[in-house]
Amino acid sequence: MLIPRYLALKSHPIFRCTANGSTSRLMSQVSRDQVRIVEVGPRDGLQNEPKLLPAAIKIELIDRLSATGLQTIEATSFVSAKWVPQMGDNSEVLRGIRRVPGISYPVLTPNLKGFESALEAGAEEVAVFGAASDAFSLKNVNCDAAAAIERFKPVLAAAKEQGVRVRGYVSTVVGCPYEGAVAPKAVVKVVEALNDMGCYEISLGDTIGVGTPGSMRRMLDEVTRAVPPQKLAVHCHDTYGQALSNILTSLEYGIRVVDASVSGLGGCPYARGASGNAATEDVVYMLHGMGINTGVDLNKLIEVGRFICGELGRSSESKVNRAWKGPQAKKV
Ligand code: HMG
Ligand code: MG
Repeated sequence: MLIPRYLALKSHPIFRCTANGSTSRLMSQVSRDQVRIVEVGPRDGLQNEPKLLPAAIKIELIDRLSATGLQTIEATSFVSAKWVPQMGDNSEVLRGIRRVPGISYPVLTPNLKGFESALEAGAEEVAVFGAASDAFSLKNVNCDAAAAIERFKPVLAAAKEQGVRVRGYVSTVVGCPYEGAVAPKAVVKVVEALNDMGCYEISLGDTIGVGTPGSMRRMLDEVTRAVPPQKLAVHCHDTYGQALSNILTSLEYGIRVVDASVSGLGGCPYARGASGNAATEDVVYMLHGMGINTGVDLNKLIEVGRFICGELGRSSESKVNRAWKGPQAKKV
């Protein structure tokens, strides 16, 4: 018997109920609300760039981003300069930026040493970064996933004492460059540990951009059962061109915080095959097209993307940036 087309569509997974309710109901909620973008370009975007940029350019990048309407701009990381030379000027950058009231400028801190240096340079928000795969964790921070969590405990305790907010990352949430597919249960374990420790938000990182709406869905089904979507963010690298689809999938689960990098710069130096993040310009264009407010002025953001790509001597990875004809161009 032939199945009517609308029934066949309804039975497609994208229209089926998620762990949190009907997808179509969620999609209509999405169109009425707001997404906060966490701009990670100055950190994730630059950490993988072979050309060392002067601190003054990084400061100018952050100051320009501050004028676009973004509320959160990850500024740098307090990791070892031997491991990530591009971040060796972390204190100079954090001290040099013009802080705009209402904008948060988090920095990565892998351990207490990093936290103390960040605090000295004036950090008011930090991020700890764990992983769902031991092999990646060993390459990235020189210890396995459980040991990394142990290193975060004194950071969280010190942050609490100092009134500093802590964001948590979980890397390799769907795939690891060394172990392959990652089980959702391994992700849940790290998410729960970061949540129990007191992270105010946990960002789920598809570090090497191998996820699809299918694997994101399998992961989010389990993670959103453990921690409410209001406490989650997604951080999708775009290696296989799936970042926007994966972000859209996360919106269906009620997630309203999205990490992105201006002009799609980025990648983790310790994740083989990693490439840039979802380009902020492309994410903003998609969300605005869906009627979702981000507070970001796309035209100003395009200019920032062109500025930093000019400084790096490379072309933008953002399709929207490459196609952009100005705010007067017809909206669709
Ligand atoms: P280690 O070698 O195990 O550390 O590195 P250690 O405690 O044994 O110390 C060794 C040396 O490092 C000592 O100096 C320490 O003082 C120094 P030495 O005596 O040899 O001169 N050290 C530090 N220096 C500066 N800042 C610090 C610090 N800690 C120790 N905080 C460590 C451990 C974590 C430091 C190292 O592995 C490291 O820096 N790794 C960098 C990892 C990184 O930045 N990766 C990229 C960011 S994560 C990412 O991109 C993923 C994400 O975007 C999400 C996603 O996409 O999934 C967030
Ligand atoms: Mg990343």
